[in-house]
Amino acid sequence: MTVPRRHVAGLQGAWLRLKWIGRILWNIARRAEAAKSYPDRVVEVLWNQLPVAVRSWRVVQAIGRLIHRRARRLQQRGGGNQTANYTRFFRNLPQLELIRDLTGETPRGVPLKIAVLGCSTGAELYSAVWVMRTAWPQREVQALGIDLSEAWIQTAASGVYPLHLAEVAGISEGSYEGLFSRHGDTLHVQQWLKEGVRWWVGDVCSSDLAAEFGLQDVVFANNFLFHMDAKRSGTCLRNLARLVAPSGYLVLSGVDLDVRSRTVRELGLSPVTARLEDIYTAEEGMLTAWPFRFWGLEPIDRKRQDWPTRYTTVFRLPDAVREVRARTSEAAGPRNPGAAKRELEC
Ligand SMILES: C[S@@+](CC[C@H](N)C(=O)[O-])C[C@H]1O[C@@H](n2cnc3c(N)ncnc32)[C@H](O)[C@@H]1O
Repeated sequence: MTVPRRHVAGLQGAWLRLKWIGRILWNIARRAEAAKSYPDRVVEVLWNQLPVAVRSWRVVQAIGRLIHRRARRLQQRGGGNQTANYTRFFRNLPQLELIRDLTGETPRGVPLKIAVLGCSTGAELYSAVWVMRTAWPQREVQALGIDLSEAWIQTAASGVYPLHLAEVAGISEGSYEGLFSRHGDTLHVQQWLKEGVRWWVGDVCSSDLAAEFGLQDVVFANNFLFHMDAKRSGTCLRNLARLVAPSGYLVLSGVDLDVRSRTVRELGLSPVTARLEDIYTAEEGMLTAWPFRFWGLEPIDRKRQDWPTRYTTVFRLPDAVREVRARTSEAAGPRNPGAAKRELEC
């Protein structure tokens, strides 16, 4: 059977019109989506025009907090975000120096155990080990790095960083004595810093880290909790606090301030306020990202009654908790972590 030519032409015409209408609808939908963020962009431009003095007015700060609350509620966290594994060497040097000074008080002859949770490609852990071993060459430092990503842990264990990576931006072979040796276009972490370091692929929110690895004198939990929603980050924080040894320190930055304040109060942790401002302002990018990015840091408000707890990033276990933990850890002891399959040792 042959279809008359005029019918074929009619069908082709209808198909072309349908495609044309579809394209118009698609464009309208795209513009509507873009228009949704338009008011946010206008507010951001206006905010950026404000003189610094005006931004510190209480009413402006209150508006900033509302904008930030909205950013925290709406912005995508975690895997979809390009900053999800961002790290670099000496990201917060004042924080490392404070921990160095605090742990210098602990008895000689006893190894200092540090854990870096959400360690990404290892820059934070090697920076911490470098600061501790440079200050206390006689002291044994054992370090543990844990991350969800096997790829990051492999990079961390190799300790090799091509010069173009963010981890080593602005750092040369000679910036920190004994840290790197240069091979062509890469920096290699020196062997003395890799000794006594263990790497583990796993979830740091797990409730049995202490049973797996034993208690740690210092636990760094920096810049991953803000990728979780409030409920999950609170639960994760409570779990990882159980890894801290009697008289140990928990270091917590890059976390929703409301969640941190609430949880540390609930756990009875004491804020260590020395060098608070240096540490809080060490990452300028995070301060300027407020209030428009969920990971932005609000300016310090010393008029708040709770300001030391709110803006401190270093916390110490109070005596009562220490005693309970000491007894529990003696009873439990570490599980045999060496037998674990997913560990990488240097
Ligand atoms: C932004 S990086 C921060 C790295 C480093 N702590 C720092 O401050 O520079 C966050 C890292 O946390 C890891 N991470 C996020 N959630 C985790 C979890 N539940 N368990 C283990 N690692 C996690 C990610 O894979 C990523 O490498």
